[in-house]
Amino acid sequence: MINKTVFEKAAKKFADHYGEPHAVSAYAPGRVEVLGNHTDYNEGYVLSAAINMGTFFLAVPSPNSKCRLVAADRDEETTFDISSVTPSTEMSWSNYVKGVFAGLSQKGEIKNGFWGLILGNIPLGAGLSSSAALEISSGLALGELYGIRVHKKNMARIGQAAEHKYAGVKCGLLDQISSIYGRKNHLVMTDFRSLDVEVVPFAGKKAGVEACFLMCNSNAKHTLADGVYNERRAKCEEAARFLAGVLKHPVKALRDVSWEELQQYSSKMDSVAAKRAAHVVGECTRVLKGKEFLAQGKVEEFGKLMFESHESSINNFENSCEELDFIVTESRKIPGIMGARLSGGGFGGSAVILIHPRDVDTASKALSSAYGKKYGHDCDIRVIKPSAGAKVL
Ligand code: GLA
Repeated sequence: MINKTVFEKAAKKFADHYGEPHAVSAYAPGRVEVLGNHTDYNEGYVLSAAINMGTFFLAVPSPNSKCRLVAADRDEETTFDISSVTPSTEMSWSNYVKGVFAGLSQKGEIKNGFWGLILGNIPLGAGLSSSAALEISSGLALGELYGIRVHKKNMARIGQAAEHKYAGVKCGLLDQISSIYGRKNHLVMTDFRSLDVEVVPFAGKKAGVEACFLMCNSNAKHTLADGVYNERRAKCEEAARFLAGVLKHPVKALRDVSWEELQQYSSKMDSVAAKRAAHVVGECTRVLKGKEFLAQGKVEEFGKLMFESHESSINNFENSCEELDFIVTESRKIPGIMGARLSGGGFGGSAVILIHPRDVDTASKALSSAYGKKYGHDCDIRVIKPSAGAKVL
């Protein structure tokens, strides 16, 4: 769902700053991870959605090899030459675009620079993938500008490579895929081995389900770049290597391991690796069950899986934090809330809450007042609508 006011503001800022109107523009939404935590880089499954908040990227070709890039919400500008696209420490926001630019230049010839501007409405650090929205919006707009055609899945890979090489986060493909493949009123079901993407009706008449999501931003520190994410990923890979050595069938990733197999060997494994694996294997099972529940209209059962997922984050993956746990524990007591869990990398950011639309107001008030009493400041609660994916405008 494109916010016209934000787009108009971006277009005006572009014209004011560069003295000419933009030539190309693209929009990419953020995402909410509904079920399937840290399963993407383990080649498992995730149910996610593109959300009704996103990022716009506007650009014109530059007359030479220089690129100029403006973050309109920060009033910051950075420049670089197409012959030397290196990560910046001061303007770390620019690294996502630089990484995408570098990825695109491997897919087609780029002879001149660009002048670009970024503006969006995704709260930063809330675990809603503002970085993927920036990668995909810039990838689409610059692809259009340079006439470089890239398949959707390769665009997702270009965004992921930008995170790996320019931001230092060894993320999976969840954020980029969700931003690209989102559909209004649908969840995105992805198999991260085959990269098959299916959209699953979520709410409304077609789905026979009356439910919506709230995002509750804990406002706790959320940064994946500080190494904890990469550490979790390394432990999962260590667990997969161990299990590949003892199981009789091929194990390429934790996706290949069943709950029973893991139970059989977990006492012989490094104890931390065993816990991390329990989270991933459990999450893969929950996603598949969750998809079935949605198809049967069993939304309350789906909500229970979300609570289970959060328990597993606390006990096995240890990627929650006190504020998120408080939100989820309170959610269990509030009438109308069917499920809640952390969403995305973890260690802060937002919780996603499954709720009946009629209970949104009362539940939001109850949650916000409980949070305020405990922490002395508000948590930010928003209704999230599964929305359409990224596009060139
Ligand atoms: C972050 C990463 C994703 C995914 C989630 C956890 O959002 O960018 O690739 O691993 O964490 O599921």
